[in-house]
Amino acid sequence: MGGRRTSRSRYIASTEPPELQDLEVIPRHRRLGVATALVSAAEAECSVRGFLEIRLEVSMANVVAQALYGACGFREAGVPVRRVKGRVVLRAGPIEVDDNLLVLAKRLDG
Ligand SMILES: CC(C)(COP(=O)(O)OP(=O)(O)OC[C@H]1O[C@@H](n2cnc3c(N)ncnc32)[C@H](O)[C@@H]1OP(=O)(O)O)[C@@H](O)C(=O)NCCC(=O)NCCS
Repeated sequence: MGGRRTSRSRYIASTEPPELQDLEVIPRHRRLGVATALVSAAEAECSVRGFLEIRLEVSMANVVAQALYGACGFREAGVPVRRVKGRVVLRAGPIEVDDNLLVLAKRLDG
């Protein structure tokens, strides 16, 4: 996640269920558990806000991120793969994409 931002809640989109976005760890700090800690913090924030589930979207090509989310307990949400082509707007700003996105979910109450 970018160091310029000060509040972890800015990485949680205001959808229902809330969606984790913009997770990135700078390369020299990878494989140290940083992303796991950030995901865990996002889950805790969602629980505090009363949500029972958290979701995210990940590229079908991004096997590293899928491994992370699997290790964190996320599973396929059971909704169709989302084809995205063109401009999408994340909290970090607009980006151009041509991708297939898996929707993953994790229950926060068990
Ligand atoms: C995906 C990413 C956020 C992981 O960050 P990280 O801090 O390195 O992740 P962690 O150290 O918490 O890894 C936790 C677990 O995830 C899995 N994992 C993480 N990186 C992996 C890799 N390169 N290969 C295989 N499994 C990996 C492992 O199970 C790992 O546990 P282990 O190290 O005990 O084996 C980081 O690689 C990244 O910033 N990638 C580019 C941006 C990106 O793809 N973001 C996700 C968008 S949806």
